[in-house]
Amino acid sequence: MDNIEKIVQNEDVHILLSHSDINQKIITLGQEITRDYEGKDIVLVGVLTGCFIFMADLCREINLDVEISFLQISSYGNEMQSSGKVTVKQELKSDIEGKHVIIVEDIVDSGHSLDFLLKYLAEKDPASVKTVALLNKPNAHKVDVSVDYIGFNISDEFVIGYGLDVAKKKRNLKNIYQVITE
Ligand code: IMP
Ligand code: MG
Repeated sequence: MDNIEKIVQNEDVHILLSHSDINQKIITLGQEITRDYEGKDIVLVGVLTGCFIFMADLCREINLDVEISFLQISSYGNEMQSSGKVTVKQELKSDIEGKHVIIVEDIVDSGHSLDFLLKYLAEKDPASVKTVALLNKPNAHKVDVSVDYIGFNISDEFVIGYGLDVAKKKRNLKNIYQVITE
């Protein structure tokens, strides 16, 4: 076991997706996006903080001219429960007017964040907006959102690692782990 992964050894967690499963999937996502946006310039808008590792890996599998930009929103009311209320903590700094935007999300859970982001970005008059999420919890959606590119559909369980946190920690785990709750 990697040293860094030992930090989860005392917790009630099990591995859901290995780093190599994730890498393989990201190669495929990058190929799909490259094919779909051939001849177009795109802006990848990463949703901080959870997207940071996924963004770094995904953007290097996209064989197009990409602009990288970030914004930060608040998502969770407490450690493991969505509040449903979304606020912008750090505004998008890039001008996306007339550009093809792809929102880069770590995970879509209730869908409130994505629903908010689609409306927020639409006001900036982009040419198009699509979404890529590494993980999607279809059974947890509380609003009707569609995700254009999905890495993995997973069950409605809390997960950590590969950018995903619990109480701001564990983002630096290489694999994705499921947290076993009662
Ligand atoms: P939503 O607004 O409920 O769809 O939640 C989206 C955000 O909540 C994601 O971008 C994550 O930051 C966070 N989130 C949702 N589910 C999980 C999880 O299982 N583990 C860690 N963070 C999560
Ligand atoms: Mg989070």
